[in-house]
Amino acid sequence: MKRIGVFTSGGDAPGMNAAIRAVVRTGTAQGLEVVGIRRGYQGMIDGDFIELGPRDVANTLQRGGTVLLTARSKEFMTPEGRAKAAQNLRDAGIGGVVCIGGDGSYRGALKLVEEHHIPIVGAPGTIDNDLYGTDYTIGFDTAVNTALDAIDRIRDTAASHERVFFIEVMGRHAGFIALEVGIAGGAEVIVLPEDPTSAHACAQVIEASASKGKKSSIVVVAEGGYEGGAEALARDVKLCSGIEGRVTVLGHIQRGGSPTAIDRVLASRLGAACVDALLAGASGVAIGEVNDEIRLTPFKEAVEKRKDINRRKYELAKTLAL
Ligand code: F6P
Repeated sequence: MKRIGVFTSGGDAPGMNAAIRAVVRTGTAQGLEVVGIRRGYQGMIDGDFIELGPRDVANTLQRGGTVLLTARSKEFMTPEGRAKAAQNLRDAGIGGVVCIGGDGSYRGALKLVEEHHIPIVGAPGTIDNDLYGTDYTIGFDTAVNTALDAIDRIRDTAASHERVFFIEVMGRHAGFIALEVGIAGGAEVIVLPEDPTSAHACAQVIEASASKGKKSSIVVVAEGGYEGGAEALARDVKLCSGIEGRVTVLGHIQRGGSPTAIDRVLASRLGAACVDALLAGASGVAIGEVNDEIRLTPFKEAVEKRKDINRRKYELAKTLAL
């Protein structure tokens, strides 16, 4: 293998640049040429490739987003699109590829491996932390800290006005961000897709908190934790209990920003491990970090097995909200 490609795909995540940088620099150090594929799978189909040397990734370590750009490609969902992408990789002499992205990106990579036998390994790049085979994904720690900063500010207002706030954080299918910021931000209620709750149950907890002397409450709601999100939950809580709350949807501010040290180190390690894995002949595997050790998990397993939230942490959150 003389040339490898690297791309980012799906939602951007802080630390993706650190991972790209690690792929370029460890690849170059091992005598490889590294090609950047821009705009994810769409760029693969369009042949949007750029040569990357160590200096091209200078000053990117601390930047959020992805310098290679990203996209969610509809064309790649078709067999024709994937055939075109595979042909472009072959024409460019790319003998192995590093995919940095979430579960949708891994599913695409698995298809390329199975249908076109292109060696691909993946690094988990998503703020959601919902990938099996790694304790943490690149971007999760930064997103949690960004959301936490916002929640701390909102708590100032909640306390000053003696109000209830419903704060929606990202996570359509997984509640990792909500659970982490819920504990760190001292939320009275945490609403997760993994344990859906009713507006009535939520209102009961808020009422119980008030009866224990709490003057304000924070309800952290994962995007997918309640049908219609925090807006709908606040509406339904008011309908069933009369409790009035304010709603803040944190949205995409959680995706941007400079990565934390934890995300930079994780991304650097995983990016380098991807190059090592390709050189060792691996393909169709996701590279993760489990108990501080590098772990390889087949893409199929990484996307099909569900990583559950830590139930003990969830119970702790409830105890601490007393
Ligand atoms: O997967 C990352 C994520 O930020 C999810 O938490 C969120 O549900 C989704 O992407 C939003 O995607 P988009 O930016 O395409 O609206």
